[in-house]
Amino acid sequence: MCGIVGYCGKKNAEDHIIHGLEILEYRGYDSAGISVLNEDGKLTTVKRVGKLEILKDALTSLHLEGHVGIGHTRWATHGIPSDKNAHPQVSEDGSFSVVHNGIIENFIDLKSKLLAKGYTFKSDTDTEVVANLFQDYNTGDFLETAVKVAKDLKGAFALGIISSHYPGELLGLRYQSPLVLGVDDQGTILASDIPAIMDYTKDIISLENGEIAYCQEDQRSFYSFEGEEIQKNMEHIDWNFEQASKDGYAHFMLKEIHEQAEVIKKALDMKIKDGKVSLGDQSFSKEELASFDKIYFTACGTAYHAAEVGLRFFEEILGLKCQSEIASELKYYQPFIDDKTLLVVVSQSGETGDTLAAMEEAKAKGAKILAITNVVGSSIARQADKVQYCFAGPEISVASTKAYTTQLICLYTIALDFGQKLGLLDDQTHQAYVQDLYDLVGKVDLLLRREDPYKDLAGKIKNAKEIFYLGRGIDYLSAKEGALKIKEISYINAVSFPSGELKHGSIALLEDGVPVIFVITQESLLDKSISNIKEVKARGAYTLSIAMEGMDQVDEVSDDVVKVPRTNPFFAPVLAVLPQQFLAYETSLALGNDVDKPRNLAKSVTVE
Ligand code: AGP
Repeated sequence: MCGIVGYCGKKNAEDHIIHGLEILEYRGYDSAGISVLNEDGKLTTVKRVGKLEILKDALTSLHLEGHVGIGHTRWATHGIPSDKNAHPQVSEDGSFSVVHNGIIENFIDLKSKLLAKGYTFKSDTDTEVVANLFQDYNTGDFLETAVKVAKDLKGAFALGIISSHYPGELLGLRYQSPLVLGVDDQGTILASDIPAIMDYTKDIISLENGEIAYCQEDQRSFYSFEGEEIQKNMEHIDWNFEQASKDGYAHFMLKEIHEQAEVIKKALDMKIKDGKVSLGDQSFSKEELASFDKIYFTACGTAYHAAEVGLRFFEEILGLKCQSEIASELKYYQPFIDDKTLLVVVSQSGETGDTLAAMEEAKAKGAKILAITNVVGSSIARQADKVQYCFAGPEISVASTKAYTTQLICLYTIALDFGQKLGLLDDQTHQAYVQDLYDLVGKVDLLLRREDPYKDLAGKIKNAKEIFYLGRGIDYLSAKEGALKIKEISYINAVSFPSGELKHGSIALLEDGVPVIFVITQESLLDKSISNIKEVKARGAYTLSIAMEGMDQVDEVSDDVVKVPRTNPFFAPVLAVLPQQFLAYETSLALGNDVDKPRNLAKSVTVE
């Protein structure tokens, strides 16, 4: 998704902006650009489609000298990737320059009004409208002009703006799209993501919806969209750049897969005290829990797969029918959500547009929100009633791995917390679950050390046109995540459905060599799964089973088997996902794909 970096202070703006944009490259982009204001108020803008290197080459001969500037990496939404559509977008008279993340929903109306006044447009973007609005509304006071512009904008926007009329000044505006400031006594760095400012400073100020940051030389102040000054608190973050780097692994994805034992333990340590789940004030009281008659789960992609597994455990512990819905669907269909509903929202980034929108809609209907997210201070974290953090550390690779397993840990511990408060779990059962959760750490560690078979297995499936991922019960939910992982980084079509559904149509697709991956961790469904393996083998399919240790019959009928340690059946997805993550990684690598930055995808999908 798009990245913003701006600078205003005593140092060289270009250096800080380009460095910040390089750090944000992992988010995915198709073009990049920068505007810098020199001491005399001359505004220079350079934009290039393609990688940052191309922009950097274009900048070498220019030697942009200036202490104020903005930069952007764009992932096209309005208008194709091109130099003219890249950001910054400049006003018609060249005096205002704007970078933007999000979508201005009413840009067509605004554009028509500006066209009627005689403005002309060079790009297909919604952002150019903002630049021209600044020109049109310019009052001679930068902040006052921004307040007028903000009133006209509808949609989602994080904006960075500079102007030749206001040398030494930088504005940041935030609505529904993240924007943070890194501050020190030399100046301010403005960014859409914390990693972009980590090298500059660890002291940050996050903008909330409807807020403006006004930076002047090395100072800054904050205002509402009504123009009233507000006070903001500074936070100190403890991430460092090393944490966000590859740490010796070939790819972020591999590093993040390998971090899972450690982060699962960290998440458990943060949520369990003296052998019992203890979530402090970031969970609901017994009275609040008793007031809910419905529990919904919502999320997108991998986070949704975690939510579906969590739902099963909630139902087991609470004895209550729960409901899950993909966030982009839930936003538009919530007939049963009311003030007796608890909505559990799962999002690694905490910025996913669909998830945020579904959550806001439910909130407006009176539902209480419990968010599970990895990013402290993210939009979802700030808007939820209660927040449980994943403690997975920064996840850079687009393919989510450690976020999934730590999301599961959050979901399991929340269910135990609720069960405990509602008197549905005796101490002994509670402690047995906690022990099973802690035992996962060693079991994950074991699986991480047994990495070897995946290269060979990837060789067997890499040329397939499509792969089937099957399972029964909770294993079907694990298989869905395996299928998503292989699709997004190997670009092989993968379909997942419950094994029993195969004979109702899809079996017609099976022929010699088609890979079928089975997840089999549920003892009670073993016999049925064995029949399914035989069924597909009889059609010539290649079968790879991910099964629990001790399930020896699986070895007899499958072409290849990867075993995972035995565990509580509800917690098996934490183990069953690991071979599927490795398999996706090795397949992507074998095909020569960009593992960490798969085509057409971005780490954080902030637009709906
Ligand atoms: C995961 O591998 C995917 N890249 C994607 O499905 C992701 O999980 C989804 O976009 C939700 O993101 P979030 O957890 O940041 O909300």
